[in-house]
Amino acid sequence: MIGMRKPFIAGNWKMYKTAGEAISVATILATELSGEKDKKIMIAPPFTALHAVRDVLEGTPILLGAQNAASELEGAHTGEVSPRMLMDAGVAVIILGHSERRHIYGETDALVNRKVRLALSEGFEVILCVGETLEERQTGVTEKVVETQTAAGLAGVGEKELSRVTIAYEPVWAIGTGKNATPQDADAVHKFIRGVLAKSYGEKASQAMTIQYGGSVKPDNIKDLMKMENIDGALVGGASLKPETFLPIVQYDR
Ligand code: PGA
Repeated sequence: MIGMRKPFIAGNWKMYKTAGEAISVATILATELSGEKDKKIMIAPPFTALHAVRDVLEGTPILLGAQNAASELEGAHTGEVSPRMLMDAGVAVIILGHSERRHIYGETDALVNRKVRLALSEGFEVILCVGETLEERQTGVTEKVVETQTAAGLAGVGEKELSRVTIAYEPVWAIGTGKNATPQDADAVHKFIRGVLAKSYGEKASQAMTIQYGGSVKPDNIKDLMKMENIDGALVGGASLKPETFLPIVQYDR
């Protein structure tokens, strides 16, 4: 990464942890990371643990994240969680368009875009996830896929709101598989995404954007990833579940 962008390390706890388990891990992170000033740090517990974790994180530099949000503010949407409810729970950042949402639950670019615009209009920061499947990589359409997902996900988002958006490049074949993109391969896609952003928002805005890498980020590969010019942070799944593995990722530069 380059100096003008602040490293942003985020943990996505997915469908793991009861409220009690979430409190235990968040309490350790809150203590150990209380002095971190030079990085942006976030954890996204499941919805049912948000209120409890908010209380633990209060007064610490760790931001509270949500893993998804509805595309509407209220209404007859059984099982959905409104951004307004997330605001009430103390959430600052919402992860949208995660590949598990796209591929298991059929979220389209149009739906992700509605969610992105609503979350931004409600004052949240957003992490917009993009990334190709193994088949897409093998057939050589990685750039086309990430360009479409980035441009469609951000359709209608103005330059001012863009400052509250982080892009997470997460190749689907690297998520939870232990296979990760080489730092060079990942950086090439990050650079390409920055170019896509520059087309819509100009060079200056695109240089200011944080682009995280996600997909089997571990304590032993984070350093090499963060050395790359266009990799500004990480969205971490499995390794964010335990302080023993998440702390060394956040503190990769120690
Ligand atoms: P992983 O997940 O670190 O377990 O590969 C990353 C993600 O899905 O955000």
